[in-house]
Amino acid sequence: MNRDLKGRDLLSLMDLGRQEMELVFDTTRMLKTACKTGQISHLLEGKTLGMIFQKTSTRTRVSFEVAMTQLGGHALFLSANDLQLKIGETIGDTAHVLGRYLDGIMARVYAHQDVVDLAAGSEVPVINGLSDFTHPCQGLTDFYTVLEHKGKLAGLTLAYVGDGNNVAHSLILGGTKLGLHIRLGTPSHFRPAELVVLRANEYARDSGGSLEIFNDPQQAVSGADVVYTDTWVSMGQEKEKEERLKVFTPYQLNQQLLAQASHNAIAMHCLPAHRGLEITDEVIDGPQSAIFDQAENRLHVQKAILALLL
Ligand code: CP
Ligand code: NVA
Repeated sequence: MNRDLKGRDLLSLMDLGRQEMELVFDTTRMLKTACKTGQISHLLEGKTLGMIFQKTSTRTRVSFEVAMTQLGGHALFLSANDLQLKIGETIGDTAHVLGRYLDGIMARVYAHQDVVDLAAGSEVPVINGLSDFTHPCQGLTDFYTVLEHKGKLAGLTLAYVGDGNNVAHSLILGGTKLGLHIRLGTPSHFRPAELVVLRANEYARDSGGSLEIFNDPQQAVSGADVVYTDTWVSMGQEKEKEERLKVFTPYQLNQQLLAQASHNAIAMHCLPAHRGLEITDEVIDGPQSAIFDQAENRLHVQKAILALLL
């Protein structure tokens, strides 16, 4: 196994260079082929991953646990409610102690600062399994899935419609580093964070990619190779639900909007989906959908991430 990434944290796609992301994709391809042909890849025998969850999860929890099992290691599910964090032990102390037992920590948190603090406090690699700022394992999986479907990444146009949220941030940061043209269709008050836009413009200058932000979803999607959406109400934003549903209604990914993209465009969604809100049944279940391949690839890409970092 390539040792270039050993011991590193993965808190956002700002942490990985283009070649490092390509190394993750090459490793994923190898591990996925091995998995499909019944070969055993016990690269993490005897190693343990702790998985801290402040929020609910289906894909992240199950795919990380299965990934560790398939790699010959072990995963521990640690609900934040059941740890001494609940009674006020600091994240720093928790990280310091867990680092003495574990070979790696994956954490799903509300505030991004919590994964930053975990990484600062622990000597083992920390992987962000989603924070309010970003979702890097999802982003790597999304680009790997595009690569499988389209055979390349640089030069493709990926349109994201909806909320400029954590998932949008991963797509923007990773996409502009990998040479894609990223187009957002998002209401003015829900644009991505300025820091992300700033970084993306720097990355795009080096890679030949680009970032454009429109208010009009049709403009964003026109001629795109990939059309992506995510929930309008992320975990932690439940109080804003009513207002958000009103603002985002024109941004629904339906067959009519998808028809504005290239004729062989693929549709993507990180899931969980709210069918009939941000995306319709006809798109999720339709012939252009890559959504369940995307969900499967969380397993293969995270096996690569774990094998490279731990
Ligand atoms: N896409 C994703 O992270 O799914 P879960 O919330 O189910 O983990
Ligand atoms: N943006 C969503 C992604 C869920 C995987 C959220 O943060 O809830």
